[in-house]
Amino acid sequence: MARENLQGKVALVTGASSGVGWQSAVRLAEQGVRLCVTARRVEALEKLQREVLRRGGECLVAPGDVTVQEDVERVVHACLEYYGQLDLLVNVAGVQSYGYFDQLPWEHVIRTFDVNCFGYMRFVRAVLPHFRARGRGHILNVQSMLSVGAAPLLGAYTSSKHAALGFAQCLELELRGTGIRVSNVLVPSVATPMFDHAPTQFHLAPVPVPPTYEPDVAARAVVRCARRPGRTSVPVFLQGRLILWMDQFLPQVGKWLLGKFGARMQMREKPVERSEGNLFVPVAQGVGPRGSVPPTPRWKRFSATAALVALAGGALGGVALGAHEVARAVR
Ligand SMILES: NC(=O)c1ccc[n+]([C@@H]2O[C@H](COP(=O)([O-])OP(=O)(O)OC[C@H]3O[C@@H](n4cnc5c(N)ncnc54)[C@H](OP(=O)(O)O)[C@@H]3O)[C@@H](O)[C@H]2O)c1
Repeated sequence: MARENLQGKVALVTGASSGVGWQSAVRLAEQGVRLCVTARRVEALEKLQREVLRRGGECLVAPGDVTVQEDVERVVHACLEYYGQLDLLVNVAGVQSYGYFDQLPWEHVIRTFDVNCFGYMRFVRAVLPHFRARGRGHILNVQSMLSVGAAPLLGAYTSSKHAALGFAQCLELELRGTGIRVSNVLVPSVATPMFDHAPTQFHLAPVPVPPTYEPDVAARAVVRCARRPGRTSVPVFLQGRLILWMDQFLPQVGKWLLGKFGARMQMREKPVERSEGNLFVPVAQGVGPRGSVPPTPRWKRFSATAALVALAGGALGGVALGAHEVARAVR
């Protein structure tokens, strides 16, 4: 398939005040894409705008909350009024809340779906009339490896991400032949500020399931999908293609590993009291692409890959021992 030239295209990026959204906006601007960026934190968006302008790009700031229908419509309207067109919707806004499912406040479950799944749907409904009228457009959803997998403590987040991917897959079928394309990026753990502002029922700071990658891994995948619409991208090998392969052929390994170590893997020895985080109202901390959790060093990722490949090769004989080594290597 021919690559699309992104120069002069207009993209609306949600969740742009930090993490994957911020970095994707910067990378798209480098390709000549004109941006409309949205999230709740205006100052953070204005900081992003300055960065994009400094690099010679164009960037409209349109703040809003993805759970508020009027905000979503206002943002899309502002984008269309300013640029006169919209070519690409990049759905990124997301939240998570850590806790055993039966201990998570019910409002956290509802809110997580409202942002991660219904937020995506609201933006899709708001842009589709424009895309249909033009006979073209691209809906690019930032999903997660947890859209096809599972992790303890993230029941609400994971199920909302499964739902968002299911929605995107239905949409792709419905839009076949219309000129409107749907893409998904299955993002692995990336070192964004998400873990600095996500609420937790524990009193320890949350961390991603290792290994953790640079946020740019996700942003570059977004750009690749923007240039070649219609794909589901799995950008990394270890916490991506290899995990998918193992889930298919050695599902007990991942279940054992995450069942036994998954909860501990997602907490670090740093006390925090953060019962609500940024779930309902935005918080000041965590602006820009990176958060306080560092990416896993390359050599550790390499060791974990080698251990997993050896485990897969040696298959069932050494399952328990090898999985234990992997857990140690990636911690
Ligand atoms: N980090 C990871 O390891 C990881 C892994 C897989 C997938 N992902 C996915 O990547 C996406 C971005 O996550 P991230 O890691 O970049 O996290 P992040 O740094 O916390 O970014 C989340 C973004 O969503 C915005 N947001 C949250 N609630 C909102 C609301 N109600 N209305 C509008 N905007 C809202 C936040 O901005 P405001 O607070 O300013 O509104 C922020 O810009 C999410 O969809 C997430 O599921 C992340």
